Amino acid sequence: MTLQINPQELRSAFGSFLTGVTVVTARRDDGAMVGFTANSFTSVSIDPPLLLVCPGKFLSSYATFAACTHFAVNILAQGQQDIANIFASYKGDRFARVAHRLDRHEVALIEGAAAHFSCTRVQALPMGDHCILIGRVDDFSQSNCAGLGYHAGQYFRIGFDGVARQDVLERT
Ligand SMILES: Cc1cc2nc3c(=O)[nH]c(=O)nc-3n(C[C@H](O)[C@H](O)[C@H](O)COP(=O)(O)O)c2cc1C
Repeated sequence: MTLQINPQELRSAFGSFLTGVTVVTARRDDGAMVGFTANSFTSVSIDPPLLLVCPGKFLSSYATFAACTHFAVNILAQGQQDIANIFASYKGDRFARVAHRLDRHEVALIEGAAAHFSCTRVQALPMGDHCILIGRVDDFSQSNCAGLGYHAGQYFRIGFDGVARQDVLERT
């Protein structure tokens, strides 16, 4: 017997997983920069250095991400929720609103991010209504900034509460 899955309820249940927030960037064949907000980022392997992110087939930039040779993942820092919103919903030139520089592959890296990963595409596996885009990390950088959090449709910042609780665990 097949279980009836309610898509809204499933999305809500998936959303109870606390994540960070990234902006994934690439270049179209005509040179235009594209990017979207994603929380499907996962580290995959240290040796070789691999990561993945899942672009949805509904994205205006899906064809670019499914076929790109290079892309970058920018882990947003606390306070960068405006940037997350721009790359999730602004329909104009997203890069005109956000300070950025270019990596070795001419792909955009967002200034002030908690970390950047410049990648060469290893595989893009179409999977349901998304694809699994796996990249090999060619270069990366990390700042001292804490990452922006996301849970149940809302952005959050890590508070001293969490740090204190971890402190207690470490002492027991
Ligand atoms: C916090 C957050 C996380 C998201 N994660 C993903 C994701 O992992 N994959 C995805 O395809 N879309 C994700 N989205 C939705 C896309 O960011 C959004 O649909 C996209 O930017 C729309 O771009 P477009 O107008 O170019 O199609 C996320 C949105 C938000 C706000």
